Amino acid sequence: MAGEQLKVVDASKTFYTEWGKVEVLRSVSLTAARGEFLSVVGVSGCGKTTLLRIIAGLEQPSGGEVFCNGVRVSGPGSDRAVVFQEPRLFPWLNVEQNIAFGLKQRNEAARRVVEQALELVGLSAFRQAYPHELSGGMAQRVAMARALAFEPEALLMDEPFSALDAQTRTHMQSELQEIWRRTGKTILLVTHSIAEALLLSQRICIMTSAPGRFREVVEVDLPYPRDPDAPEFIRLKKYILTQLTA
Ligand SMILES: Nc1ncnc2c1ncn2[C@@H]1O[C@H](COP(=O)(O)OP(=O)(O)O)[C@@H](O)[C@H]1O
Ligand SMILES: [Mg+2]
Repeated sequence: MAGEQLKVVDASKTFYTEWGKVEVLRSVSLTAARGEFLSVVGVSGCGKTTLLRIIAGLEQPSGGEVFCNGVRVSGPGSDRAVVFQEPRLFPWLNVEQNIAFGLKQRNEAARRVVEQALELVGLSAFRQAYPHELSGGMAQRVAMARALAFEPEALLMDEPFSALDAQTRTHMQSELQEIWRRTGKTILLVTHSIAEALLLSQRICIMTSAPGRFREVVEVDLPYPRDPDAPEFIRLKKYILTQLTA
């Protein structure tokens, strides 16, 4: 088990709706090593959010198992923090209070954790601001800080930058890379953007749809920070695209 942070074994998920049953995931398995940056790419609707929710413990799989640090996941836990597509902040709390909200303690140690999280996402100067005063990118940085304040072992991110404009998105991607470098957290990112996965991750799981399955895991053996114009980057991008749509 040494070095394994997240492990999904043969996860499947079928939803039963009034229109019938929908098989969303079929026998999906993955392992993320401690400190690894792993991405899952797939087209919209292929089951990425469902998979992430199962790993987060927010959804029960119909079959299979999830482990975090060797312990079977049966529900949400502070060892796995989630960053969703939208920031989900409380509008009546300021930045600092939003980050501290879920923390059990309100002591000096908790204050330091919040301080550190603010610093990591570069929002120390905006601690007193309220969500309506923040840009989309800043709000998403607060969501990242809130996740980091739980001091999780793994950060689970569900298309965290999809709602942002292209420039902000690029900026946030490099910030996330820096946060990963500084904290050494295990990061699982699900995204429909092949370029985003290639910029950030060490390995990429390619997911196909209806039902969602893993086609292949690609190693990205390129130095950081990555150059999207590098021939190998472009080659991998084309390759993953053909695998996604094949
Ligand atoms: N609670 C649910 N009940 C029924 N179907 C669902 C539910 N959640 C997701 N689905 C279906 O599962 C499929 C995959 O959804 P999702 O995991 O959100 O995909 P992605 O995040 O890759 O876009 C979609 O067809 C969606 O309609
Ligand atoms: Mg989704």
